[in-house]
Amino acid sequence: MPFYHQLGKIPHKRHTQFRKPDGSLYYEQLFGTIGFDGMYANLYHEQRPTQVKEILGRKNVSPKIADANNIKSYRFKGFQVKPEADYLESRKTVLTNADCSIILAAPQESTEDYFYKNADADELIFIHKGSGKLRTLLGNLDFKYGDYLLIPRGIIYKIDFDTTDNRLFIVESRRPIYTPKRYRNYFGQLLEHSPFCERDLRRPQELETYNESGDFLIKLKKQDEVIDMVYASHPFDVVGYDGYNYPYTFSIHDFEPITGRVHQPPPVHQTFETDAFVVCSFCPRIYDYHPESIPAPYNHSNIDSDEVLYYVDGDFMSRNDIEAGHISLHPAGIPHGPHPGATERSIGKTQTEELAVMVDTFKPLQITEEGLAIADDSYYKSWLE
Ligand SMILES: [Fe+2]
Repeated sequence: MPFYHQLGKIPHKRHTQFRKPDGSLYYEQLFGTIGFDGMYANLYHEQRPTQVKEILGRKNVSPKIADANNIKSYRFKGFQVKPEADYLESRKTVLTNADCSIILAAPQESTEDYFYKNADADELIFIHKGSGKLRTLLGNLDFKYGDYLLIPRGIIYKIDFDTTDNRLFIVESRRPIYTPKRYRNYFGQLLEHSPFCERDLRRPQELETYNESGDFLIKLKKQDEVIDMVYASHPFDVVGYDGYNYPYTFSIHDFEPITGRVHQPPPVHQTFETDAFVVCSFCPRIYDYHPESIPAPYNHSNIDSDEVLYYVDGDFMSRNDIEAGHISLHPAGIPHGPHPGATERSIGKTQTEELAVMVDTFKPLQITEEGLAIADDSYYKSWLE
């Protein structure tokens, strides 16, 4: 997160004595990223954050690849992913490459018995259905329909759901996820032409602190294994922290669309960036207002990026037979465009209610077995008249 945040109590100066009421020291932890070059936070724990008690076991969770060199356009029916009780078990990787994974999940239950820590990747969780509370060692964040939750790698968390009906679209990124640099000034402040500003990014305001000893299970994901580690102190024992490295949320409904007289290119929808992919938000907006404009997109050749579009709500004007929860994949190397009839259908329309999340990856995505299980294998021929 490119701006400073402080929560709880911290000493006046870093790396100095910070004492508890009984006179003993709090345990300081520097939580850095990209070595000592990236964003970081300084945390103050009740107990040592290093007290590993046992390493119980490990499970390989690497996705099984069905097609490593895909050239087909696909439609995936995301709501066909079956709900599962456990949060981690419910996460199904449908597309993946060396930089990121696209995951669908329909968890029914909150995480009760364990904490989760992804040491491999930042997690961007889009809430399609459901509401609840993300609980982390750096504070809590309420979430609801339309929220992006951005959890930087290594942040220990639990997730509480209000009901059993939840649908999540998750991007796991091995590259750090930031807001677009072109929308920030030299000082990191979001500029006037940014489609969102600092007020739209919600930071943790509620810190849960437990000074407890015992057996605390952290399921840690590293190199595509989930390792069960037992710690001797409660992971949420932070009394305060400050810095730039913390989780936050942003609602897609707070994205202010950029519109024009003629069709605007996808970068106007960009919401997040990495050096390996971008994430865009397609939100309800007025259509292009040139008297002869064509609101539907033109055919385009994304020669060097795979395009993933996750359909959330509204009507999807450029596609026939697309419903909420579907994912379209248009792979690099071949052009794609509106379905037959969609261009004419769009002329004269003045606005759209579409809501969708797009992920454009710079390396090709591989199709997993979980993806193939919910795929429409005939979609790649859907432009034939
Ligand atoms: Fe496209």
